[in-house]
Amino acid sequence: MPEPLEFRVLRLLSDQEFRSGEALAQTLGVTRATIWNALEKAERLGVTVHRIRGSGYRLAAPIDWLDAATVRTRLDEHAPVFRIRVEDEVDSTSTRLLEGGADVLHGTVLAAERQTAGRGRVGRPWWSTVGGGLTFSILWRFAGGASALGGASLAVALAVIRALRSLGVDGAQVKWPNDIVHSGCKLAGILIELRGDALGPTDAVIGIGVNVAIPRRARQEIDQPVIDLQTVAGPIDRNQLLAAILRELHAVLTQFEAHGFTVLREEWAAHHAYHDREVEVTLPGGQRVAGRVDGIGGGGELIIDVGGERRTFVSGEMRLRPRDATPPVAA
Ligand code: BTN
Repeated sequence: MPEPLEFRVLRLLSDQEFRSGEALAQTLGVTRATIWNALEKAERLGVTVHRIRGSGYRLAAPIDWLDAATVRTRLDEHAPVFRIRVEDEVDSTSTRLLEGGADVLHGTVLAAERQTAGRGRVGRPWWSTVGGGLTFSILWRFAGGASALGGASLAVALAVIRALRSLGVDGAQVKWPNDIVHSGCKLAGILIELRGDALGPTDAVIGIGVNVAIPRRARQEIDQPVIDLQTVAGPIDRNQLLAAILRELHAVLTQFEAHGFTVLREEWAAHHAYHDREVEVTLPGGQRVAGRVDGIGGGGELIIDVGGERRTFVSGEMRLRPRDATPPVAA
């Protein structure tokens, strides 16, 4: 697919020098009006462009463009496992891998600067801006059937936590089954979609979205309290972040496949935002159950003490919220 014009203009402005509309138009072989329109579109995608009469255009903040070769060099010994592709714009990286057919092999990674139809859990959209998020999906082929993959989504969340810690980002927690939160607000989300035979192998398309630097005005578009890495840890290089998550995914999923979730359970529980806390569960049918989080089962199920009775919950489609906290205030 040809590179959309707004991306070509933004790349020319990446060094944060002022460039006139005329110079940009000349370089790209289009009119100044076309450049103006492209920058309008870029602003709608969440990029702030400064326009100064007499000086031209400049980005308010630099964009560290995703680059497959840079990610590869940072994967060290994990590099042979992954085939990495970066696109400027797709509908959804997960949809692309799910519909990619036989060309999409184990370890295929697709990252996109922008998703036009990013998908979250329970039918929600996933929203991110150009340069302000990391959105990618990976195809992982598990030898077993889907029934053996109960804890896989929790394992993926643990990989993200490990990656963040390896980059010096502390304080991120998991919220069962696989939300990544910080200060009670959503920092990253994971969506896993499976296809395959009951007995295996099973292809999992693991979609991960991380909030890197969400522009303040963009937060109004998101229907839940969110936080970004910029706020909790300062600027983060997205190529380095992607490489760190892939390295940890390889390590965690290899462990998961060999031994199941049990070997990861203790580490996971140590990062659980609601461990030992009073929660309320809303089941897919709307029924509510209140109790205290008592642990995680060997298959990744949530165990809640409901009035002295230990009950297990397996559905990731249910909602979980703490009963002992004031609502988080997004930064
Ligand atoms: C959630 O709702 O918490 C899950 C969000 C998952 C978003 C990621 S972004 C990359 C991949 N492509 C999508 O369309 N969704 C996932």
